[in-house]
Amino acid sequence: MTIKGKVALVTGAGQGIGRGIALRLAKDGADIAVVDINTDKMAEVAAEIEELGRKATTFKADVSARAEVYAAVEHTEKTLGGLDIMVNNAGIAQVDPRRCNTGGRRAHPENQYPRCSLGDPGCRCEIQIAGP
Ligand SMILES: NC(=O)c1ccc[n+]([C@@H]2O[C@H](COP(=O)([O-])OP(=O)(O)OC[C@H]3O[C@@H](n4cnc5c(N)ncnc54)[C@H](O)[C@@H]3O)[C@@H](O)[C@H]2O)c1
Repeated sequence: MTIKGKVALVTGAGQGIGRGIALRLAKDGADIAVVDINTDKMAEVAAEIEELGRKATTFKADVSARAEVYAAVEHTEKTLGGLDIMVNNAGIAQVDPRRCNTGGRRAHPENQYPRCSLGDPGCRCEIQIAGP
């Protein structure tokens, strides 16, 4: 299967895993909508994608706000001519660290990771919005 010429939207693409996914998809031939809350980082990643010879567009959206995800999908379709691949990378959910059962710092009531992405309702929301 090839993804050459497909359009991918990657949330949280400004850095980290999302940036890595966006660049990999671009290397494999996809055009990329870089979606994040950090505009400076989005611009840097978009420039990297264009250096790879693919189209890139940026859109500032907070994935915890449903309307902003709708707007990101609409922007992608208008700017890049469609949407074939949705990567729901940015995912944030409020969790009670005392209920985390993974041991180490996460298990401690005063741990430094009060958020985690497991079972994130935001991701399900994005899939609904991007779907047919
Ligand atoms: N790195 C890990 O080991 C690991 C492990 C399990 C899960 N995850 C999850 O994978 C995802 C990416 O991890 P990472 O390490 O690359 O994170 P990161 O913090 O390096 O990058 C996250 C990116 O998402 C953007 N972002 C944050 N909140 C956002 C929001 N509400 N809407 C849109 N964009 C937002 C940030 O600006 C940033 O560019 C996160 O959801 C994280 O919880 C990461």
